[in-house]
Amino acid sequence: MAKTYGILTLNKISSVGLKRLPTASYRIGNDIAEPDAILVRSQNMHEMDIPASVLAIARAGAGTNNVPVAQMSARGVPVFNAAGANANAVKELVITGMLLASRNIVPALGFVASLQGDDASLHKQVEDGKKHYAGIELRGRTLGVIGLGAIGRLVADAAIRLGMNVIGFDPEITVDAAWSLPSQVKKANTVEELLKHSDFVTLHVPLLPATKGLINEKRVQTMKSGSVLLNFARDAIVDEAAVLAGLASKHLRGYVCDFPTAQAQGQAGIIALPHLGASTEEAEDNCAMMVADQVRDYLEHGNLVNT
Ligand code: MLT
Repeated sequence: MAKTYGILTLNKISSVGLKRLPTASYRIGNDIAEPDAILVRSQNMHEMDIPASVLAIARAGAGTNNVPVAQMSARGVPVFNAAGANANAVKELVITGMLLASRNIVPALGFVASLQGDDASLHKQVEDGKKHYAGIELRGRTLGVIGLGAIGRLVADAAIRLGMNVIGFDPEITVDAAWSLPSQVKKANTVEELLKHSDFVTLHVPLLPATKGLINEKRVQTMKSGSVLLNFARDAIVDEAAVLAGLASKHLRGYVCDFPTAQAQGQAGIIALPHLGASTEEAEDNCAMMVADQVRDYLEHGNLVNT
């Protein structure tokens, strides 16, 4: 009799992807005992007792910081990720974030929601708002991209198409020969060099011991006066207290992030989203298809892709 594999899903995984694991060979659900593999999105697995039956774990997203990767590798269990599968969704939200911040959209919407009175009075208030919420354009401004993997490269490309200048820094790309990015992307040799010259800075590095607190107090001060920081990577990459101080002193124009915190709640200049970067139908389907294929190829053929 052919083997049936058990797949434990710790989060909702798009059915478009799960269809790639045929029911004749796979039992899939959130209550599978002794699973052969685990599919996870946001669930923190660090405190979880991972059954000895597990042969592979796949994260339906780019980062694997919610999975105990070292512990699993000591057990010989590969941890797959869906590198690149949600990159377009994140790119679109990063560009949206730059536009929201540069055009003062969030406070302007709050202003419009607070308008009261008859049409003549509204007209007068709108004239005031128009002056008060005037913004800046992206064209001709400089975007600094820290981390030039799948997401950082797409963001760089989109920014170039919007007429921005782009500077890139990637700790993994240390030699010029490895710099295979479009010639329009200038290479910064240090984070500091990038920060000094950028009107917008966007982070696309994974959360690792080396990137925790990457944007600290000193680096906030190194950023250009009036610049905007965007963090669609992981909250711990930024020292939020340092950024809040930078906003309070008006050294920074804005902080656009995908992680609301109690500390930052309601602070002027903050635009916080509920970790929406990869939350599109397309990205969820793409990630699910990629991890389903990875798990199937590994369980059935022992292939290792994106670990
Ligand atoms: C990622 O690492 O790609 C995101 O955190 C994905 C997600 O929103 O689950």
